[in-house]
Amino acid sequence: MEDSTAQRAADGITIDLDDRRHALDLLLSRRSVGALQDPAPAGRDLELILDLGLRAPDHGRLRPWRFVLIRGEARTAFADRLVAAALRRDPAAPQALLDRYRAWPLRTPLLIAVGAAVRANHNIPEGEQVLSAGAAAMNMLNAIHLLGYAGMWVTGANAYDPEINASLGFEAPSRLVGFLAVGSRRTMAAVERPAREDHVVEWKGANRPT
Ligand SMILES: Cc1cc2nc3c(=O)[nH]c(=O)nc-3n(C[C@H](O)[C@H](O)[C@H](O)COP(=O)(O)O)c2cc1C
Repeated sequence: MEDSTAQRAADGITIDLDDRRHALDLLLSRRSVGALQDPAPAGRDLELILDLGLRAPDHGRLRPWRFVLIRGEARTAFADRLVAAALRRDPAAPQALLDRYRAWPLRTPLLIAVGAAVRANHNIPEGEQVLSAGAAAMNMLNAIHLLGYAGMWVTGANAYDPEINASLGFEAPSRLVGFLAVGSRRTMAAVERPAREDHVVEWKGANRPT
């Protein structure tokens, strides 16, 4: 059998400690990048990114993850949909907002609409199904970064718009969890991370952590 990196990763134990720490250092350097340019990942790189999405944890093996790729010429039609949806929500929407909605897909090399195919009235709560899709989005952001590309998770009013959801195949109760805007970085600010002690406490048996 071919000794591919993927097989080594699947095997887990064959990856040495230095490689693992290097991978974590790379993950610590991830940051969201909104200023994107070509190229977007394609071919084997894109497959790897999508496969990482499919490694998200998933209660009950429901596999709720759905990824819709929007790229190339299709971005123009998608931009039209965003503008139409904004006008439906607010017929008096300012032109500047409409222009922003139209420009965004056109300047984004690849959009991955990430959603959950939600099963209603299932013993796995809907929230957990949506969280699993969110975990897929995060896995993909990490993969995008590790492969040297850049991305950003974006929602906004369009991600919650039922018609935009439906046009991407997400009829309620299924839903988008957001768009990954993907490409290569034009610029990237330094990584800022909050202080660990502001977010982590040790629970020692009191009613509340102190
Ligand atoms: C669910 C979700 C939705 C988001 N939606 C937006 C958005 O619509 N617009 C935006 O500017 N940032 C949005 N963000 C924030 C960025 O994706 C990013 O996390 C933030 O700019 C911080 O950058 P960092 O990831 O480098 O720390 C969203 C983040 C999450 C998790």
